[in-house]
Amino acid sequence: MLAKKLHANGGRRKVSVFGGDGFLGSHFVDQLMVHKHEVTVFDRFLGGRAKNLSHAEGRFRKIAGDLSESSLVAEALEGQDMAAYFICATTPCAAWERALSDIEAEIGNFMRFLGQCVSAGVRKVVFASSGGMVYGPRNGPSTEDSLPRPVNPYGIAKLGQEHLLEFFRMRHGIEADCYRIGNAYGPRQSATRGLGVVAAWIERMLAGEQLDVYGDSTTVRDYVFAKDIARLMTFSLRNLDASETFNLGTGLGTSTLDLLEMFRTVLGRPLLYRIHPRRPSDNTVSILPSTKLLCHFPGFQFQELATGLRLTFDHARAVRLFRPALSVSAQGVLASPLSLGLH
Ligand SMILES: NC(=O)c1ccc[n+]([C@@H]2O[C@H](COP(=O)([O-])OP(=O)(O)OC[C@H]3O[C@@H](n4cnc5c(N)ncnc54)[C@H](O)[C@@H]3O)[C@@H](O)[C@H]2O)c1
Repeated sequence: MLAKKLHANGGRRKVSVFGGDGFLGSHFVDQLMVHKHEVTVFDRFLGGRAKNLSHAEGRFRKIAGDLSESSLVAEALEGQDMAAYFICATTPCAAWERALSDIEAEIGNFMRFLGQCVSAGVRKVVFASSGGMVYGPRNGPSTEDSLPRPVNPYGIAKLGQEHLLEFFRMRHGIEADCYRIGNAYGPRQSATRGLGVVAAWIERMLAGEQLDVYGDSTTVRDYVFAKDIARLMTFSLRNLDASETFNLGTGLGTSTLDLLEMFRTVLGRPLLYRIHPRRPSDNTVSILPSTKLLCHFPGFQFQELATGLRLTFDHARAVRLFRPALSVSAQGVLASPLSLGLH
């Protein structure tokens, strides 16, 4: 019955993306549009404007609101085949300091959201989990079969959300894919959100300021380009009647000091930096081979880190260059770097 329906509309799905104007959400929206799906984006859209999707305005249904506004959430979910959830109000550092309130908020918000998905008859949920945090402290690569032992409340909340998805699947029959994402980087990442060392370092470099480096050669991360994440997450669209948990990383580890050296080489300029000890909220090693997911993407090549850093740097520099243009132009139109095609 469902297969017939999908066949009838050429495999196009109705997908609502929560947090779709954020860093990862906006790349996912781009991929959905490449594949001609019908997209709704739910985000705050402060000031009524998209921050990361201005290049695509008019090509998606836009619902501006807060997750706490249940009538708007219901509107965004009505008639949807799938809902993708990229909303998260905290960071590993912040959650370390305010564990109770952050775990309560993340779990509570997500549970209410899932309840609304059930009421709206959504078939499947896609969830942005954190490979860097759900596995907890590790000495080597983590596979989907590794026992998750999160210590940081951010990872504890993510794992709790994954378990909630399993409960909703058993109790209400709603399917879900969880993606345990590595250290995402790429164009559009906020330099101040506290979820991306690459964006933070680039911003500091461009401002001529000193970089703060937390950790050393023993702090190892799996850096994965945002566009690759979005392309691989489209896997969920292939079958709405299945649920899976996937690692989403390159399988390659890069130490914090190697990343610093790579910055120096790729960007060809001396760096001002100060090295600090690893923060207690940070894990040591996070390497996340996507072996399971890549079975479905034969020949898939991840963006090489040096090239990805270059692309990210060029984008950030261009956005910065156009920052003064964030004012009313001669035509009375608000010009932004993104509306100038820098996406
Ligand atoms: N960035 C990473 O390295 C990384 C790695 C692994 C997992 N993740 C997960 O991916 C998801 C997206 O991360 P991101 O880096 O794109 O974050 P982001 O902050 O760029 O995007 C989140 C979006 O959600 C929106 N939002 C937040 N709270 C909202 C609310 N109450 N109501 C409506 N909209 C709200 C924000 O406006 C923003 O556009 C998060 O769940 C994060 O935990 C991120």
